[in-house]
This record gives sequence, structure tokens and C-alpha cells, in this order.
Amino acid sequence: MKVLGIETSCDETGIAVYCSERGLLAHQVYSQVDMHAEYGGTVPELASRDHIRKALPLIKKVLADAGVKKADIDGVAYTAGPGLIGALLVGATLGGSLAYGWNIPAIGIHHMEAHLLAPMLEEEVPQFPFIALLVSGGHTLLVQVDGVGQYHTLGESVDDAVGEAFDKTARMLGLGYPGGPALARLAPKGRANFYKFPRPMVNRPGLEFSFSGLKTHAINCWQASEQDEQAKADIAWAFQDAAVDTLVIKCRRALKQTGLNQLVVAGGVSANLELRQRLGKIMKENNGKVFFPRHEFCSDNGAMVAYAGYLRLQAGQYETLSINVKPRWNMAELSAI
Ligand code: KG4
Ligand code: ZN
Repeated sequence: MKVLGIETSCDETGIAVYCSERGLLAHQVYSQVDMHAEYGGTVPELASRDHIRKALPLIKKVLADAGVKKADIDGVAYTAGPGLIGALLVGATLGGSLAYGWNIPAIGIHHMEAHLLAPMLEEEVPQFPFIALLVSGGHTLLVQVDGVGQYHTLGESVDDAVGEAFDKTARMLGLGYPGGPALARLAPKGRANFYKFPRPMVNRPGLEFSFSGLKTHAINCWQASEQDEQAKADIAWAFQDAAVDTLVIKCRRALKQTGLNQLVVAGGVSANLELRQRLGKIMKENNGKVFFPRHEFCSDNGAMVAYAGYLRLQAGQYETLSINVKPRWNMAELSAI
């Protein structure tokens, strides 16, 4: 079975073809970041319009790269939510129309489920059940995964997502947009422990997160500093240390609470090297194993959507002809396969 995947939930147009026999055949991501950078954040209307311009040419390119014709495609998967409504509608309308025109089924995919399943595109994959830490620009979630579509939320952020906190702190330090990766690159130049940031919500039981306080702490440190390059790097170091430490503490707690020993980490922030190293270390110490997507599949892409779509289509799931998107969508509502 060959599935065309379409991701347009935010500011990346991601297209891929996944084949059940041969794996991922081709994929492409077009990032709108340069266009939004001028405004310091994603402008939803501009995002939708750019998806309209880019999606179809990218689909043609990916089909050519994959060496498949339209007639070879057995199903279309598109991101149906959560995300920006206009951007989602572009992918859903295009995906639904192509499927209708080609007389094949379409399936709407949950963006965070696609992130969660992205490590399954690698050679060594986790076995159910496992714990997933999903860390992106919009979500920070700890989930117990008993199977595809069997997701039990153990904890989530009560305010900013961790990626959002990275971006806001980076913006405040003048590191551009989206600043998460830039802040992570600057952090190693900072002096270790020059600033001490709090570890929000670790001293009370539970698996919830809060990241908006870290951002405020960063602002206060910056205002009281010399406001030079060294201060920027010192704050980047301390912010990343606190954010990563908080995620690691909660992962350990979730693993202990559930008795599970496999951890999947996915979403844009799973590209963070410090997070990857520290989680790798604790999982090794505890005879467990951690699974990450390859670097290019940490952030938004079509491959993860094509793969999630394949799993659901081969289980017989598909959409009706109506176009439905869900800007807000709880993972726990998904059906099991
Ligand atoms: O999953 P994603 O591409 O889009 C959403 O679904 O939100 O995640 C994007 C987020 C942004 O907040 C970005 O700053 C963050 O992931 N990010 C990072 C790193 N790379 C991307 N944050 C920290 N360290 C990184 N290396
Ligand atoms: Zn994402």
C-alpha cells in the first residue's frame, strides 16, 4: 500500500509517500519560516495562502522523486488537527479532493499522533506499551501509549508549551524566529550555573508542566544583566538547563509510576541535543531505551503523516466526503486500531 501524506498544520508544507513494502519512498518539506520571520511569529493567513501555493507543486515533485504515478497511490493522509484552522483546511481540502478524484480513501490524521509515531520510521522501533514525551511549539505532553490510538495523557503543560517558551525566551534575547534552535546553539557558549533558574512544578506530585515562569525568569535576569553577548549566552545556558531538567524529571517520574522502560521523544524540541543526551543517559542507567525520530523528522514533516495514515487506512479507517478539521483536538479521543 502506498500512501501520500500531506502536512499543513502550521508553517511547514510537508509531503511524503510511504510504502508498506519499501518504507518511505520520498519526502519534502517547504518551510515558510523566512516569510514569517519578518513578523516575529507565524501569521495564520499568510501561512494558509502559502500552503495553497506550495502544496500541489510539492506533491508533483515528491511523486516524481518516489518514482510513482498518481495511479500507484492507494490512499491520502492529511493533518486534520490540531493547528491553524486555515492552514489545516488547505491540506484537508486538497487531500480530500485528490482522494475523491483518484477514487481512493482519505484519512485525517492527528498532528501529535503523527509526531508520536515518527520514531517508527527508524530501523529500531519501540514496542507497545511505552511512554511518549511530545514536545513541540504548541504541546508538551506525557502520554502512555498502549497501542496506535490508545493514548492516556499522564500530564501536560498548564501554560506555555516548552517549544513556545524556547521561542519566547529566544525572541526576548533578540535571537530571531523561531528562536528555539538558535537558543540551543547559543547555550553551550554560556557559563554553567552562572544563573540558577527554577524547575517549575517538580516539588509537587504529578506530571503537569509549567514553562511560562522560566520565560519570566529569563526576562528578569536579562534586565538585571549587562545585556551583552555573554549575558545572552549565560541566560540561554540556564534556560535550556532548567527546561531540559524539568522534562527529564517528569519523564523519570512517568516511567516509575507506570513501570514502563521505553520512552519515545518526538516533536520539534526532540531535536534538542541536550535533551537527547540527558534522556539517553538516564534510560541507559535504568536499563531502558529511548527512541527519537531522525533529526529531520523531529519538526513538522509529511513522512510522519503518511506513516500514521498508512496504519489507519490499512486498518480500514477512512473519512466521508465532508471536509472536517479540528484546530483543537484531544489525543485521547482518537480511535484505536
Ligand atoms: O513540532 P514542531 O516543528 O511544530 C509544532 O508542531 O509546533 O515544533 C517546533 C518547535 C518550535 O518551538 C522550535 O523552536 C522548537 O520546536 N525547536 C527546538 C529545537 N528545534 C526546534 N527547541 C529547542 N531546541 C531545539 N534544538
Ligand atoms: Zn508539530
